[in-house]
Amino acid sequence: MEALRPDLSDAEFVAAMPKVELHVHIEGTLEPATLFDLAEANGIALPYDSPDGVLEFQTSQKTAGTENLTNFLNCLDISRGVLRTADDYRRMTLDFLRRCRAEGVRHVEVMFDPQQAIRQGVPFGDCMEGITQGRAEGRRDHGVRSEWIMCFQRDHPADEAYALIAEADPFRTEIVGIGVDNFETPGFPAHFQPTYDRARERGYRLTAHCDVNQPDSRQHIRACIEDLGVERIDHGLNTVDDPALIDLVFERDIALTGCPTFYAGQESAPIERLDMIRALLDSGIRISLNTDDPAQFGSGWINNTLVAAMQSAPFSRAEIVRFMQHGIDSAWIDDDYRLELTAELDAFIHGG
Ligand code: ADE
Ligand code: ZN
Repeated sequence: MEALRPDLSDAEFVAAMPKVELHVHIEGTLEPATLFDLAEANGIALPYDSPDGVLEFQTSQKTAGTENLTNFLNCLDISRGVLRTADDYRRMTLDFLRRCRAEGVRHVEVMFDPQQAIRQGVPFGDCMEGITQGRAEGRRDHGVRSEWIMCFQRDHPADEAYALIAEADPFRTEIVGIGVDNFETPGFPAHFQPTYDRARERGYRLTAHCDVNQPDSRQHIRACIEDLGVERIDHGLNTVDDPALIDLVFERDIALTGCPTFYAGQESAPIERLDMIRALLDSGIRISLNTDDPAQFGSGWINNTLVAAMQSAPFSRAEIVRFMQHGIDSAWIDDDYRLELTAELDAFIHGG
């Protein structure tokens, strides 16, 4: 069968495709140059000599497998430690939405970690004001629509998460859903049950990270679905290891947000992850492709990730479009907007 849009190279095809992204952490979009600016403005000493040092250090901390989540998060902690004011959050948000426009992203759902902000002296309300302002400016100046997901850090007290659900009431219209991220600690996810129940009562959409190849990944995925009642799982690739779990994810129509790239300077995506993603796609599960922490991984923005996945797996152009349609179908948006995005994607593949 002839490839879609034979008039375009792979890179042109991906760049021109109207895109959505559902799994990206705002703190992971901080670019090394901005990091240095913010560190200087906030009087924070970084353990690097120059912006290049950020990715060099991170790369040196990573091992070849996927078990490097802990190392990555330790590096990320150094970077996100420079965020100290509401305006830092505004600037980071606006920079990212400008980047989305350049990448051809139409709609993005972005996670943020309020506990990190609070620990660093940015009160929750200030963090929300910064994001809210950046979000509005991004929509106005760059035409990118964004929804925001409040993520709780699994290695910090669940009581903090529970309290934040009520503290967020004044910002209810700015936050579409909740999730959990950071280190996957023992006991997860049971101790977040009250938080998820409280969020559900308020009408928040629910997701949770189940990172790749973590201890008890499969049990965590099952418990997030059966107990917390999530509609999406961030990563969740270990679903593929268990036929009963594949059935559960499929039957409950749970969306997975896969992230194929995670190394600095990566032109290709690791084959182990791609094999998992391929098997999940082939089993009919609604999986999308996303960047996670594009600047902090150093793995590049969404177009780079899609081309890397497409050429490494390999995936056909039709399969890349399927991933994108899964993203549109899993987005937390109203049906009119979903139809509009679907029509745009359709027009693109037919040469529009
Ligand atoms: N925070 C940022 N990226 C993350 C990831 N992949 N897993 C858990 N927490 C994160
Ligand atoms: Zn993530």
